Amino acid sequence: MEKPCVVLLTGSGGDAQGWGNMSVTEAVFGAVKANGFDCRIVTAESRKEMEAGLQSGPCSLVWSALYFFSPRSDIIAIPEDAVWVADVLDELHIPYIGPSARTMKNLISKFATHEILAAAGVAVPKHWLIPPARPEDVSTFPAFVKPNGESRSVGINEKSVTCNPDELKKQIDFIHRELGQEAVIEEYLPGEEYTVMVIGNGKEQEILPGRVTVPKECYGKYPVLRSDLRGVGLTHVSIPDAHIEEAKGLAAAACRALQCSDHIRIDMKVGSDGKLRIMEVNGIPGLKPVKSWSPQIFALYHPGEEPYRDLIGTIVSCAWERANG
Ligand SMILES: Nc1ncnc2c1ncn2[C@@H]1O[C@H](COP(=O)(O)OP(=O)(O)OP(=O)(O)O)[C@@H](O)[C@H]1O
Ligand SMILES: [Mg+2]
Repeated sequence: MEKPCVVLLTGSGGDAQGWGNMSVTEAVFGAVKANGFDCRIVTAESRKEMEAGLQSGPCSLVWSALYFFSPRSDIIAIPEDAVWVADVLDELHIPYIGPSARTMKNLISKFATHEILAAAGVAVPKHWLIPPARPEDVSTFPAFVKPNGESRSVGINEKSVTCNPDELKKQIDFIHRELGQEAVIEEYLPGEEYTVMVIGNGKEQEILPGRVTVPKECYGKYPVLRSDLRGVGLTHVSIPDAHIEEAKGLAAAACRALQCSDHIRIDMKVGSDGKLRIMEVNGIPGLKPVKSWSPQIFALYHPGEEPYRDLIGTIVSCAWERANG
């Protein structure tokens, strides 16, 4: 019998939106093959190129680094007329790794994620989306300002923590002007930072919490992962010694509420009351072999000979079973 073929789909947006650049895609490719699957890499900048790439060879399951097609490689910047990869795959009846099209759209909007989680009783910070809300509607200070649809801490700097309406307004203007999108305002969470990997489905699902730290002297006034602290080898992930059951419970509830599958990563921080809140849920977590948080966490809990190969194998196998189960 022929081996199932996993198609890795990427394009210009693969680093900003998804698991990483072409060298990361090549590392994923090697690990998929090492797990006994056939694999192909397809790069596409449009639906037409994607369909041509999928038709040019075998395709049992797609794994996409892209939420949607975009010429932008620097930021996510969702266009109004975005063509979503998962929508196209649904239309073509091709199974894919990761959450459904609807869940992916909810995850990429931090505000939509918060609204769904809050409605399900899952702990999130107080939150506003501006527009449609106005800066005057924000009733909590300090208030944290961030772009609604970015990742890798894009748009996050020392001024993201605002202590009065004037600072708040300036930072919202900065997000609107520089990133051309809505700003999400959240209650500022002053405590420790966690990131929780969720891998597998149903009874096989594993929830693996990690504690994220950077050397204390790298922080400015606030313990916040600014954009200049990301992707430069400064963040460190370890097995936490506190908030473990709380983090697992929150992650499980969030996955249920958002209907996540296969592999996602949930970022959390401790609020002023000492309890965790969910900051965001990543639908396509980074997969840089050493640097990204998911591979780091997996290696902490599954320190085999080749944890990266095992991580990729677990993700592909659980999606394959879900699609064929
Ligand atoms: N409400 C908040 N209070 C305090 N700090 C926050 C808050 N929201 C975000 N941060 C800080 O900003 C960082 C980036 O925020 P967040 O995780 O929401 O966005 P991101 O850029 O999409 O991250 P990722 O790269 O994980 O996708 C967090 O890791 C945290 O340090
Ligand atoms: Mg994050």
